[in-house]
Order: sequence, then C-alpha cells, then structure tokens
Amino acid sequence: MNFHVMTLFPELIEKGMNTGVLYRAMDRGILSLHTYNIRDYVADKHKRVDDYTYGGGAGMLIQAEHVYQTYLDVMRRIGEGRKVRVIYTTPQGSVFTQQKAEELSKEEDLIFLCGHYEGIDERVLEEIVSDNLSIGDYILTGGELASLVMMDAVSRLIPGVLNNDESAMTESFSEGLLEYPQYTRPEEWHGKKVPEVLLSGHHANVEKWRLEQSIERTRERRPDLYEKWKAENDN
Ligand code: ADE
Repeated sequence: MNFHVMTLFPELIEKGMNTGVLYRAMDRGILSLHTYNIRDYVADKHKRVDDYTYGGGAGMLIQAEHVYQTYLDVMRRIGEGRKVRVIYTTPQGSVFTQQKAEELSKEEDLIFLCGHYEGIDERVLEEIVSDNLSIGDYILTGGELASLVMMDAVSRLIPGVLNNDESAMTESFSEGLLEYPQYTRPEEWHGKKVPEVLLSGHHANVEKWRLEQSIERTRERRPDLYEKWKAENDN
C-alpha cells in the first residue's frame, strides 16, 4: 500500500507514521508514505494558499488551483490516467468505519487530502475527490489527524503489517461486538482476582464466558452496535 498525503503539515503526517508497527512495515517495504506540501505548489512568491470566502463569513479557504497542482504531481508519480481513490478528510463526510477500512485496504494506492482553515474551494473537491470521510462527530483543527487515524486503521489490515499474534486481535470488531475484558499476571491485583473460568483451562467455557462478556459490554457501552448485532443474530 502506498499512501500519498496532500497537506499543509507534512511533518505532522511523517511523525505520526514513523513509529512502531507502521514504521516497521515501511522499513520492510509493505507500506510507503509520500507527503506533498500544498504550499509548494503555489505559483506566486508569497506562497499564500488561502483567500476570503465569497458570500462572506468567517475563515479562509484553500484555493482550488493549489490543491489541483498538488494532485497533478501526485498523479505524475502514481501514473497518470490511473484510477486512484482520493479521500478528503472532513467533518462533512460519511463516518469512517472498520468496514470502510477493510474496503480501502484492498487498494494499491490511496491519496488523502487534508483540509484546513474553513475548508477548500468546492470546485476542486468536485473534480478530484472520490470519498468524503469523517472520523467522528467533532471538529478538529485540520484533517491531518483524521488521515493518520484512517491510515493506521487501513495499514493494520494489510497482510504482513501485523505479526500473526496481533492479527488475531482483529476479529472482535468485525463481528459487530466489542472485545471482552482480558487479564494477565498476577492472578490477584489490588484485591481483584482474575475470573475463575479463565484459570480453569476449559476452552469451551472460556469461549462462552468471553462471548457473554462481549455481549454485555456492547449492550452497556454501545447500545447502537448491540441493537444491530441482536437484529443480525436473532433466530
Ligand atoms: N477535519 C476536521 N474535523 C474532522 C473530522 N471529524 N473528521 C475528518 N476530518 C476532519
């Protein structure tokens, strides 16, 4: 997977990707990251990327041409004429989910466009964006953290990025329930004991207990997910 990120803050994206599991995957060549500073594509010497909004209102907008020139350069690198998804990170998008992460992880290249200030001129968005995605119902100062969140969630689904032990951990959410509680040594901590069943060595009972815990936790913390799961599993 090759990630291409169009942003005003490339250093934030690079720092965010250069640690832990993602760093290891880039080092091994399973992932690659290319950042493009939109400011580098501004033709005039002042390097100003934004301007006032027609119709009035607070805030500044990134002008269409700077984003478009950045995009053309990304496409030159990827191969002009190829159909590559362009994700615009915006609170006006549909919500990014595990299902979306799975869908995006099948692509060979992904282009991210990070918004800033009050946004970007709509005309260039119409021309280049294929997916408008939000990471949740709150407003960030820019799209960089949202892009990092999506790249992280997509990356861990790509074969070889996680080792096998870690991969096993992916199951729970994709089944529509939250993960059950887990424990490691010692058997007792602050007077709290590890649930007896987990020490029993009885595999079927452990599985049963975990499923019950997952269901209960989902019902309590995420009633929305619980209702969906129940509708799908009622028989
Ligand atoms: N940019 C600002 N807020 C955002 C959000 N919630 N999701 C994606 N991009 C954003």
